[in-house]
Amino acid sequence: MTVRDSLAAHLEFFQEMGVDGMRTEHEWRSRRENVERVLGDESPVSSPEEGAAVEPVQIFSSPAEALSAIRTDLGDCTRCKLHTLGRKQIVFGVGNPAADLMFVGEAPGADEDIQGEPFVGRAGQLLTKIIEAMGLRREDVYIANLIKCRPPQNRNPEPDEMAQCEPFLFRQIDVIKPKVIVALGKFAAQALLRTTDPITRLRGREYQYRDAILMPTYHPAYLLRTPSAKREVWEDMKRVSAILKGK
Ligand code: URA
Repeated sequence: MTVRDSLAAHLEFFQEMGVDGMRTEHEWRSRRENVERVLGDESPVSSPEEGAAVEPVQIFSSPAEALSAIRTDLGDCTRCKLHTLGRKQIVFGVGNPAADLMFVGEAPGADEDIQGEPFVGRAGQLLTKIIEAMGLRREDVYIANLIKCRPPQNRNPEPDEMAQCEPFLFRQIDVIKPKVIVALGKFAAQALLRTTDPITRLRGREYQYRDAILMPTYHPAYLLRTPSAKREVWEDMKRVSAILKGK
């Protein structure tokens, strides 16, 4: 068996096991270059004719470990201007790393920025009540935001901030592999669905998203301002519960 065959067999094995992703950062690329150097020209790790470079894979023993690697990659992030605009800390995500249900919000507010946990302020307390009304606990689900740093004065996230930050959310989703994702509000729903449709049009429908069902609904902060919309959100959550129960 050639080195290439053996590498291909390994990669196939990892894929079948559901290994969560590959490392593409600089330090891992240099490791690959080292491998190529060690193997020399006669057994290249990748060849331009095949068009597919073989990246080294990192194997994680649990979703928690894979999430922790994403957090490490995020580091003390300076990828967008929010790090210069008063954020206290990065708010990564909280909950069960293997949750069936994941909630995705917009960005941390003042309380989340202080506590380092998503949805802990007034809107968060309402979200917690909604989760409990579904017969679940906060610890059963996973909660994250599209943007991991607080925008100043809670302004809307800007396109460059979303572009820099959303890959980390996508990686979180790919690790957690929830059955259902609830996108809370316009920004999360539009970013995940790659659409500019308004939330009023997006909510009340189910979308296939990666391997999950995506259910856009109104943001809890909107419910604080518009309590009459709670009824629609509850309809959405009843549907989410039914999907989780396989109905
Ligand atoms: N609003 C959000 O979208 N996310 C939070 O974490 C808090 C408030």
